[in-house]
Amino acid sequence: MFRAIDQIPLQEKRVFIRVDFNVPLKEDVIVDDRRIVSSLSTIRYALTQKAKIILASHLGRPKGQVVAACSLLPVAERLSELLDEEVVFPEDCIGDSVKKLIQDLPEGGIMLLENLRFHPEEEANQSHFAEKLASFADVYINDAFGTLHRAHASTHGMVPFFKEKGVGFLVQEEIKFLSMLTTTAPKPFLVILGGSKVSDKISMIEKMMNHAPTFLIGGGMAYTFLKAMGHSIGKSLVEETKVAQAKRILSRAETKGIKIVLPVDSLIAQNFEAHSLYECLPVGVNWHNGMALDIGPKTLGLFKEYIQKAGAIFWNGPMGVYEMSAFQKGTLGVAHAIAEGKSVSVVGGGDSLAAIKASGLEKNFSHLSTGGGASMRFLEGTELPGLKVLEN
Ligand code: 3PG
Repeated sequence: MFRAIDQIPLQEKRVFIRVDFNVPLKEDVIVDDRRIVSSLSTIRYALTQKAKIILASHLGRPKGQVVAACSLLPVAERLSELLDEEVVFPEDCIGDSVKKLIQDLPEGGIMLLENLRFHPEEEANQSHFAEKLASFADVYINDAFGTLHRAHASTHGMVPFFKEKGVGFLVQEEIKFLSMLTTTAPKPFLVILGGSKVSDKISMIEKMMNHAPTFLIGGGMAYTFLKAMGHSIGKSLVEETKVAQAKRILSRAETKGIKIVLPVDSLIAQNFEAHSLYECLPVGVNWHNGMALDIGPKTLGLFKEYIQKAGAIFWNGPMGVYEMSAFQKGTLGVAHAIAEGKSVSVVGGGDSLAAIKASGLEKNFSHLSTGGGASMRFLEGTELPGLKVLEN
């Protein structure tokens, strides 16, 4: 087991808090600050303990280079506004000048390091880099739920250098809700998956068959499954390298009596364009060269029946091309159906969360996870390196 931040003495200590401030930005403006807001309780707690707080995060995938668009400066400014406190923001995340600024940090002072991924050593989990980061602090806290599935220097390599280590309140909360889904939450447990990349989620279906009797699959990933069943899917998205695995999953599910529910109708567009002509067609019938950009109304009706009967739901990924208004009915329909039901509901993944936020339904969900990939890996029972390394 691991300890939580409030079980570790922090007074007068230098506390390194790995946060996940990987927020969406549009021309330096933060589009959604949920990940920052979600870490505030941990930061505020450390403030009340008069700790010297060193926050560290990645933003985007700058591939070991300094990329101006991936600077954490807008995040430092937003954090400062939210806390109504000064946030020291050095130009880098490592080096003597950072060390000096940390020495000068007063008790109750806050610093946010520049993007860790500006250095290739972060993702390579390089030990020398990890040791240098560790030398900045006396206590290590991980509150970056969205990155627990990554074994990087800041989430993994630096941790063994600390005697005092634990998780923040956000990680604690995420684990509480995700664990509940497969244990104490009412049954049946329903998993809803969507989004374009079947490769991100296909292993989850395989690993979760022992926990969930039903999977609803929409979004681009559904068409790899429909192809595996022998349907003509026109120019719809397909991951050819995953068709065989999809076939295997479908046959294993049948043997085990598990339902994998796929679209029975879809909105078929002529082009991948917001204003493309489209029609609603049953699966595989006259799709010719068209492409499926959303689930159809019959599929939504079918999905709603399962949602209404579920005791607990985990949802990750939109049902169609949510960014185009003509193709968002499936995703919004699923969001409303879950919100109107009584199930314990946990949602992870950027696009499904954006749909919930846009429809003002946030309060109707039990928990909105800050980690798409991490929440799936946790649920499927894959060991999270960032969590494992915190065990005492
Ligand atoms: C996320 O956005 O899911 C996390 O911040 C992890 O980011 P990554 O997939 O780039 O490692």
